[in-house]
Amino acid sequence: LAAEAQAQFTAATDSAALEVARVAYLGAKAGKLRLAQKGLGKVDSGDKPAAGKRFNEVKTLLEAEFESAQERLTSGKSAVGEAFDVTLPGRRRRIGHLHPITQTIRSMKEIMGRLGFTAVEGPEIEDEWHNFEALNIPLVHPARDPLDNFYLESAQKLVAEATSPLLLRSQTSTVQIRVMEATPPPVRIISLGRVYRPDTADATHYPMFHQIEGLLVDRGVTMADLKSVLRLFCQSYFGGDDEVHIRFRPSFFPFTEPSVEVDMNWQGGWMEMGGAGMVDPNVLRAVGYDPEEVTGFAFGLGVERVCMRQHGITDIRALYQNDVRFLEQF
Ligand code: PHE
Repeated sequence: LAAEAQAQFTAATDSAALEVARVAYLGAKAGKLRLAQKGLGKVDSGDKPAAGKRFNEVKTLLEAEFESAQERLTSGKSAVGEAFDVTLPGRRRRIGHLHPITQTIRSMKEIMGRLGFTAVEGPEIEDEWHNFEALNIPLVHPARDPLDNFYLESAQKLVAEATSPLLLRSQTSTVQIRVMEATPPPVRIISLGRVYRPDTADATHYPMFHQIEGLLVDRGVTMADLKSVLRLFCQSYFGGDDEVHIRFRPSFFPFTEPSVEVDMNWQGGWMEMGGAGMVDPNVLRAVGYDPEEVTGFAFGLGVERVCMRQHGITDIRALYQNDVRFLEQF
């Protein structure tokens, strides 16, 4: 009986077949087990304990067999359903793309490349010579205030040979110095990268942002060259069919003389691009150039500002919150 019932339970391929087998063997009224139990009454009294024991063994065995058969059927069924429902609609795969700032940087590099400027990189951790001193920013200058810069005490301890305090660079003008120290004139470079200032984040400020720095040093370079390079750059980036105009407003930077703020015409008004000017003779001397031989211009523009204007983004913080719903629009 035990072997027979076991075979039936294992053979059942769906719950209906299993139910038939259950009724046949374990059924409370006429199941074969129940009939066997009734038969126990007719057994000789001497054999009764052994028969009763055997009956209980078979009963336990059959109940366990039934349960495992039931489990096999229900779990098997759901696994098959999940894996093979070919009627479900497909899920569209999400394809990533470049961050809007990266896109802006790439197209800036591409445009300036066409104008003959090579892109170079400099370190984000700088010493005071490259961030200030060589750029004609003396120790007493307010731009060196510890409250306006991220000085790095821990990096200081790690870099054994560091003789000057280290800080996160506050401007990409540092790269001008590094390039001129390493190469004799003429130079014609741009540098794009992150800069850091301890500003409280709001719609137009963020403690980290990007600048594009341009530097051209050669014989006889003038403000007119500066203006036409900036105009060509803005024309290529924003212009399309509209004619782009560049406006200079007098300004001051320790490392340029004269210095200007750069605006470009934009939707009927003027849009601030950044600062520029003729490289100060003190800077040329600091890197071993002869200001009587060569002159140069430099400019530094805000990458976020350009990117935000281009896309109509009104809050710089949105660029760095990594919200895909925002980023996937660009
Ligand atoms: N470095 C200046 C800034 O951070 C911008 C600038 C660069 C001005 C080059 C003049 C020349 O504001």
